[in-house]
Amino acid sequence: MGVRHFLSLNDLDRAEVVSLIESAIRLKRWRRDGYRPRLFEGRTLAMIFEKSSTRTRVSFEVAMAEGGGNAIFLSTRESQLGRGEPPEDTARVLSEMADAIMIRTFEHAMVERVAAVARVPVINGLTNSLHPCQVLADLVTYFEHRGEIRGRRVAWIGDGNNMCNSYINAAALMDFELRIATPEGYEPEHLEHVGEGGRVSLVRDPVQAVADADLVVTDVWASMGQEEEAAARREVFRSYQVDAALMAHAAPSALFMHCLPAHRGEEVAAEVIDHPDSVVWDEAGNRLHAQKALLEFLLRAQ
Ligand code: CP
Ligand code: NVA
Repeated sequence: MGVRHFLSLNDLDRAEVVSLIESAIRLKRWRRDGYRPRLFEGRTLAMIFEKSSTRTRVSFEVAMAEGGGNAIFLSTRESQLGRGEPPEDTARVLSEMADAIMIRTFEHAMVERVAAVARVPVINGLTNSLHPCQVLADLVTYFEHRGEIRGRRVAWIGDGNNMCNSYINAAALMDFELRIATPEGYEPEHLEHVGEGGRVSLVRDPVQAVADADLVVTDVWASMGQEEEAAARREVFRSYQVDAALMAHAAPSALFMHCLPAHRGEEVAAEVIDHPDSVVWDEAGNRLHAQKALLEFLLRAQ
């Protein structure tokens, strides 16, 4: 089999995603019991960051370290990419030395350019369009707390951003209903699944989106690269905060998720994210287990 990349959830089928989720949950249990399998002995992951990160960087570095391998951090500023070396040349060079490449960048086309020439697996660590590693961890978190997500109702509240686009992909792949509530002009770009089999729908009213939802998800109102729009967006999104009053419309057992970093008092109220039942810390921690499972899968498929 040729090299497998993970640029989007659509690079996997449902059975593969379910298998990764099961593997992540097993790796998490093993780690709690003090067992950290040497999954990546002698392997190296090269990580290119053109945007800031806490969770993505730490989870990939720890995943490789605990598995007996290495991760190398490359920022645009300190690598030749920042001085104009073509991404394709960087990808070819890294393919000679590393076993996998992770990239966090702006334009999605950049990860596609790298994947087109890389001879090792390329992982999308977030682009302006998609954040598949995070949604994989969110799925792990849902399965861990509530079991199968097929047939469940998920509400996305706020900006139709990279996370929202990856949720749209996940809805089609994992067969759950996704109701998206965004202000006008902030709809997601990946609308090909909207209306398809009633799985994905767009509404304006957050209450309508959240009604009887099993999972409520939000994210920042201004993503990385949109800092200058932050003040204007705070006005536009004012009525899209996930607070306890909004959560009261969801199913009684509904979970709340946020990929973090969060802005309390903007997209989420402290009473929701800091509630004792909040699973956002599990969700963040599951980046580690989900990505161990993903790396193991991609390196094995090579
Ligand atoms: N959720 C997430 O990707 O966090 P970081 O930006 O800290 O990596
Ligand atoms: N939508 C956010 C996610 C951060 C993890 C951003 O792109 O900044």
